[in-house]
Amino acid sequence: MSAVFDSYERAKDFGTPAPAPSTKQITLTIDGVEVTVAEGTTVLRAAAENGINIPKLCATDSLEPFGSCRLCLVEIEGMKGLPASCTTEAKHGMKVTTQNAKVAKTRRNVMELYISDHPLDCLTCPTNGDCELQDMAGAVGLREVRYGYAGDNHLSEKKDTSNPYFTFDPSKCIVCSRCVRACEEVQGTFALTIQGRGFESKVSPSQNQPFLDSECVSCGACVQACPTATLSENGLIEQGVPEHTAITTCAYCGVGCSFRAEMKGQEVVRMVPNKDGHANHGHSCVKGRFAFGYATHKDRIKKPLIRETIHEPWREVSWEEAFKFTADKIRGIQKKYGKDSVGGITSSRCTNEETYLVQKLVRAAFGNNNVDTCARVCHSPTGFGLKATLGESAGTQAFDSVHKSDVIMVIGANPTDAHPVFASHMKHRLREGAKLIVVDPRAIDLVRSPHVEAQFHLALRPSTNVAVVNAITHVILSEGLEAKEFIKERCEPEAYKAWRDFILDPQNSPENTEKETGVPAEEIRGAARLFAKGPNSAIYYGLGVSEHSQGSTTVMAIANLAMCTGNIGREGVGVNPLRGQNNVQGSCDMGSFPHELPGYRHVSDPNVRALFGKEWGVELESDPGLRIPNMFDAAVAGQFKALYVQGEDVAQSDPDTHHVTKALSSLECMIVQDLFLNETAKFATVFLPGSSFLEKNGTFTNAERRISPVRKVMEPLAGLEDWEVTQELAKALGYPMNYKHPSEIMDEIARLTPTFTGVSYEKLDRLGSIQWPCNDKAEEGTPTMHIGEFVRGKGLFRVTPYVATDEVTTRMFPLLLTTGRILSQYNVGAQTRRTENSKWHDEDVLEIHPHDAEQRGIEAGDWVGLKSRAGETVLRAVLSERIQPGVVYTTFHHPFSGANVVTTDNSDWATNCPEYKVTAVQAYKVTQMSDWQKEFAKFTDEQLEHLRRAREPNTVS
Ligand code: SF4
Ligand code: SF4
Ligand code: SF4
Ligand code: FES
Repeated sequence: MSAVFDSYERAKDFGTPAPAPSTKQITLTIDGVEVTVAEGTTVLRAAAENGINIPKLCATDSLEPFGSCRLCLVEIEGMKGLPASCTTEAKHGMKVTTQNAKVAKTRRNVMELYISDHPLDCLTCPTNGDCELQDMAGAVGLREVRYGYAGDNHLSEKKDTSNPYFTFDPSKCIVCSRCVRACEEVQGTFALTIQGRGFESKVSPSQNQPFLDSECVSCGACVQACPTATLSENGLIEQGVPEHTAITTCAYCGVGCSFRAEMKGQEVVRMVPNKDGHANHGHSCVKGRFAFGYATHKDRIKKPLIRETIHEPWREVSWEEAFKFTADKIRGIQKKYGKDSVGGITSSRCTNEETYLVQKLVRAAFGNNNVDTCARVCHSPTGFGLKATLGESAGTQAFDSVHKSDVIMVIGANPTDAHPVFASHMKHRLREGAKLIVVDPRAIDLVRSPHVEAQFHLALRPSTNVAVVNAITHVILSEGLEAKEFIKERCEPEAYKAWRDFILDPQNSPENTEKETGVPAEEIRGAARLFAKGPNSAIYYGLGVSEHSQGSTTVMAIANLAMCTGNIGREGVGVNPLRGQNNVQGSCDMGSFPHELPGYRHVSDPNVRALFGKEWGVELESDPGLRIPNMFDAAVAGQFKALYVQGEDVAQSDPDTHHVTKALSSLECMIVQDLFLNETAKFATVFLPGSSFLEKNGTFTNAERRISPVRKVMEPLAGLEDWEVTQELAKALGYPMNYKHPSEIMDEIARLTPTFTGVSYEKLDRLGSIQWPCNDKAEEGTPTMHIGEFVRGKGLFRVTPYVATDEVTTRMFPLLLTTGRILSQYNVGAQTRRTENSKWHDEDVLEIHPHDAEQRGIEAGDWVGLKSRAGETVLRAVLSERIQPGVVYTTFHHPFSGANVVTTDNSDWATNCPEYKVTAVQAYKVTQMSDWQKEFAKFTDEQLEHLRRAREPNTVS
């Protein structure tokens, strides 16, 4: 595809950011040439936009101009001296000279001073050929340094190599402050300062600490901004300057950051966030920028493996043998136990094209609808709740919309850890003055971080989201703050009336719900007034909303809140689910649910079945198939016998591990397609090696419905891309698939799915990315949905009664466990645990309030037994006042932690999404691992030995 470039070229830097969009243009003369630019453009940028590159060092187009280096001086007719072009706004009629003897001499003097305190080791410097200081020395024609190198200098400053991904070499620093400003303006962490004055000035992480010990979150924005080799990626230091690049998309979270994969041959030198990326605008987090080493980790399995049972060693076989073995097993099982005894699970980590093929394989080759996706356990309530109220199972905005919000409500989401780049954009807006309401049991970073403070933190008790959102809307209606015109014009009147009567019932008042939710009524009232006042109020929510027994109800309550305040259908507002994994939206769009074909069309609709049946050449089943929990129940009951899982680790990620592993052990054929022998693969009888995002072509769809390209930059280590594996499996089953490239799969999706009819690889290459719907009505996609009218026509208010969860605390289980993510690790950790990111988080810990800890004699660092009605595990204690007394918290990135041994099989009433966020537990001091952990360790050893024997058949252990 055309997005792969043959040669390496640094992205063009215009020196200062583009001005705010303006229709007004101005014309000035630069070096005798008339140029026209948007009003508000700096002289430096105006020149760069017109091919005139004024030397610069402290300026870069991702940062506000600073004006410290004095290299970008120009002459401007009528102005005194030599103004800095980076801080001077271009004016209509201005006459600028960028080069003459006076300017050149001044610039040379400036460079001379810099170079006199800079090591002259360009030939052996890691950024030789990719250094702005080197380029500028050449650009200004520096030929000598008159001051010599003998005076005071910084050349012997020590390097800081504490960060696993980048090195700080202060001997090369020119104190341009680009790093400090990047940390403030782009990332919003404020970890760096310039300490000292004049000659003593130096860059200091936090309190002059090593980077690793400082507040730095390793986003790399400072490294990207640094014009010298002072801050350099270790990949660049080790491998040298890249040779070619390709534009691709991060395979981690639902932000969907665009990257330039900078390559040498088939090796990634570094990942550089793409300035033209519409979701990230040149920023990234530690995962996307640095944590790609898992792709070539020694644990990668590169040959297919088969075995008859899970208690025997694997056998490495050819792809052909693996496909035949698998197809024979599936057909044999179907013959013996019936057509519906097999099924498949798609993954939100895989591409749209791969996901589409897996559900097609299940429907067309297995002949049933037993396909489900990991979105079942995260955002299925979003699909249900938004479809039921607004008419479309997707977020309403583009991420950029947040820059127009006046009030931002974050419910059950922790963006700084789980959606870091979006969090940086949100924090930028908050620093500009937008107000923040956080609804979360835990004091997430956003509640108070440098230059950001929530106006309200509604620290509710886990499981009471519905009561809190109902109470907020109760205040809005009872105080007459609702958007009457919007409701009248845009929403169904009968449904509104019924909902209004319901919500105004005193049972929904904050005073009434206070005892249940733990949130003082006055705080609810204050937050409700702030939200209603807006004028642009936006809601961002995450798994802290969906993963509850009332997940779907909360999503509908959130939609009600947005509709009743008129906050839908324009920029700055909306209902925005923050999707956890990279392709949650896409896996849902692609027909992964057992009741829906691609585009959320129900399998019971004969017209839809006829459309797909004709294209696929089969008759499709009209009954919805099994959801994941139903598959597990049926497996335990002996009715479900074979499962194909692509890119998903249900044994670690799904709730009630005892039940899941019992189900997996009951299968006769378990097929896992993945990069590593993950927890699920330990129960497999067929292992089909997967390909990482660097080894394949395809697309991901992020949380804002943005379809972005994934580009192959290296050959698949196992020889096949994931879509090819599914295709070959289909052929072995006797169902023909003959795609030559994933673009053909996308063409088929576009032919069959009304919201995708305008999507093609050619258009993706041209536009960079596309937000669906993309069709005749919106040829370049749809950033904001529901403008003018809702997708379903009129908005539908739904009555949302609060029903307390069955998962109640008792004397035996007096605490509530809730779970979440951490910045450095990703989901089940299969990828990030195989990178240096584990330096930040090498085990999951239990956060417990000091009061609860003291009552139990637990001290920081103690091993704590955590017991629920489902099971028991042991974690190390961390005392924290981030959580309220009565609540404990952990993450779930390490399999040995067994967080899901403890979570129960309670689930959302509408979608079966598990209630991960609420588990009644007891915590107590222990001295050894739990029985489950001991069993887990034994089983893991056994399975690793089976793998080792397959890989090294002639050695003895
Ligand atoms: S580390 Fe780099 S960006 Fe920061 S002040 Fe030094 S030269 Fe400038
Ligand atoms: S890596 Fe990111 S957080 Fe750390 S100092 Fe640099 S800009 Fe700041
Ligand atoms: S993990 Fe998310 S925020 Fe970080 S780089 Fe990847 S897509 Fe962007
Ligand atoms: S680039 Fe303008 S003063 Fe440094």
